[in-house]
Amino acid sequence: MKLLPDLMTFADGTAVLTKNDWIERRKEIIDILSREEYGYMPPAPKAVTGEAKREEDRCCSGHAYKERINITFDTPKGDFSFPVNFFVPVKEGKYPLIILINFRPDAYDKYCPVEEIFDSGFAIAQIYYEDITTDDEDFNNGLAPHYERDKDTGWGKISMWAFSISRAIDYFMKREEIDSENIIVAGHSRLGKTALWCGANDERVKFVCSNGSGCSGAAYERLKHKGAETVDDIVRRFPQWFCGNYKKYANNADAMPFDQHFLIAACAPRFVCVGDASEDLWADQYSEQLACIGASPAWKINGKSGYVGVKRPAKVGERFPKGEICYHMRDGMHFFGRADWLSFIKFIKSKI
Ligand code: GCU
Repeated sequence: MKLLPDLMTFADGTAVLTKNDWIERRKEIIDILSREEYGYMPPAPKAVTGEAKREEDRCCSGHAYKERINITFDTPKGDFSFPVNFFVPVKEGKYPLIILINFRPDAYDKYCPVEEIFDSGFAIAQIYYEDITTDDEDFNNGLAPHYERDKDTGWGKISMWAFSISRAIDYFMKREEIDSENIIVAGHSRLGKTALWCGANDERVKFVCSNGSGCSGAAYERLKHKGAETVDDIVRRFPQWFCGNYKKYANNADAMPFDQHFLIAACAPRFVCVGDASEDLWADQYSEQLACIGASPAWKINGKSGYVGVKRPAKVGERFPKGEICYHMRDGMHFFGRADWLSFIKFIKSKI
């Protein structure tokens, strides 16, 4: 393995020495990741509106109400709309909001224990990712055809999904039940990559929860352990997630002007939760943990710590919540489980 690109050195070779330097370096990192990996997102739209319909006054044990909201925003080729499921505790208050980008449209889904979440004092918004655009190489459906797309640097689907989460944030910032200072974005696997990329770009996201995000998510690309997915694997099977340029790095990760600690670091000095499962070798757990360590200088320059925990591989059941990056290793398979959620929720509550 060649040396990793240095997080704290600008592309022109000068060192990142102050908090203000970090503000500039973060912009440079987002530009590098946009150009070389995920593709550039378009500018934010001018107007975002939502039409809400109350579906349940009291759901589950009666502690929350549920709405279905249609969010609409302008694009160069006309308006685009997508639906969101929204749960809010019935007790009057301002709640931190967890936005989950999910694999299925169902509000009561195996990856989202809504009752545990709203009973812990959160509102929840769920976006079904294929309501934005399908997870395949077809760029003629949903949001995709609303913008021109450059073949090398134009946005891939991860960017489209992440951009749409930000449009939901545009809407929820104006809802009176929401504590707009505490917006959390969560996702699992390909959608854990998406959650990180959204949080990297959008500073309104206070916490990112990325579960089992693996290759092109929280895991280093250069440092692969046995059984782990590589850039070559991912661009062959899922080219639609990325911009065209990313293909250059198949079997050539050492040539990348970045590695995935850049993605985590672009969320600094805000909060990041990284969750892994003990059997999930494909996601390369230890490379995720090491990338959390590698991203931490971005917090240190802001007078914070980043990841505070062991440097050896985390053991099953271990959790490191002391800094601004929380890492946990759950027992079991690749899944967004209750134990993952409880770890994330506990961390968030300790930092709010
Ligand atoms: C595949 C892919 C991973 C991805 C996962 C998922 O396994 O190779 O990169 O994270 O799907 O989204 O479930």
